[in-house]
Amino acid sequence: MFSKLLKNVINQGARQYSSKKGLKVTVCGGSGGIGQPLSLLLKQSPLITDLSIYDIAPVTPGVVADLSHMDTNSNVTSHVGLDNLKDAVADTDVVIIPAGIPRKPGMTRDDLFNTNISIVCDIIKVIGQVSPHALVGIISNPVNSAVPAAAEILKKLNVYDPKRLFGVTTLDIVRSNRFIAELKGLNATDVNVPVIGGHSGPTIIPLISQCTPQVKFDHDVLVKLTKRIQEAGTEVVQAKAGAGSATLSMAFAGAKFTTSMCRAILGEPNVVECSFVESTVTDSPYFSTPVLIGKNGIEKNFGMGNLSDFEKDLLKAALPELASNIKKGADFGKNYK
Ligand code: NAD
Ligand code: LMR
Repeated sequence: MFSKLLKNVINQGARQYSSKKGLKVTVCGGSGGIGQPLSLLLKQSPLITDLSIYDIAPVTPGVVADLSHMDTNSNVTSHVGLDNLKDAVADTDVVIIPAGIPRKPGMTRDDLFNTNISIVCDIIKVIGQVSPHALVGIISNPVNSAVPAAAEILKKLNVYDPKRLFGVTTLDIVRSNRFIAELKGLNATDVNVPVIGGHSGPTIIPLISQCTPQVKFDHDVLVKLTKRIQEAGTEVVQAKAGAGSATLSMAFAGAKFTTSMCRAILGEPNVVECSFVESTVTDSPYFSTPVLIGKNGIEKNFGMGNLSDFEKDLLKAALPELASNIKKGADFGKNYK
């Protein structure tokens, strides 16, 4: 009933909005392993009327031609190369960034830093110059460093608004929900687990004690489940054996996140997502917790709630890695020209 009501509200919102101006969403890295299925999912959203695909890959006009034959109402546009990024992000409401290389077996997300952070910074600089009011979600790894790097660039441009910059950690929530549903025989779409901290190994902290519906696990099962959630990205990297990391589940999670941003901009109340954002919840200057999103970005940070002793230990273990990832990203952003 509630979801039917919500659907009506969204569709009504979309109708009202489309009579003025529709939402524009830009996917930076839109021709990649994540970018293509993410764009496929976003092309189906009635909330989006302009879908802008930016990439450096020559296949991009082909991806856009392909998408543009779908009989949904949004227009899709192709933008190839840094010179065309301004057009890609002009007047955009939401930018989602899966640009950059994925891990191979044996690599950590931090091993992607040297290649990916400058890719993200180049993109963020143009967003800051052209569309500083857009809500921006960074998928590219390492997320824990990319968000602070991006913040420093926006600060230098005098357009930094911490309410509008997000590290996308939605896949950690999606995985947690699914793994718990499997173990407990629940409907996966009914399960909701907050995941806090960051997006790499021990910085991923699932708060299973706060799962809805409530679930209980023996301690050894809880330890194994937590480890599986923390290492789920590596599980996919190993299974793909050198051909990349999670793309389809990430596209699904990225579409969830992007659609939430759109719903919030359109005025839907109570839009909550866990995301890696500037934070005062812990000593870590960036930290993922559930946040309430409104028309202008984050309206409220819900914090961590009560942690179990097990989760308090996970938090303690996460903070040093988070601090070092964040410092590395922020230093890069400060020195970026
Ligand atoms: P991919 O290599 O398949 O696609 C990346 C795309 O980025 C390609 O189309 C490439 O042409 C494009 N690109 C590269 N440099 C660019 C630039 N300078 N400007 C614009 N586009 C550029 O990789 P993928 O599997 O889609 O993964 C992308 C990123 O997402 C990786 O860094 C990966 O680690 C990360 N990731 C994050 C999460 C998460 O939960 N946050 C989950 C999965 C993957
Ligand atoms: C994930 O969690 O799947 C992504 O961060 C990609 C990776 O490298 O694990």
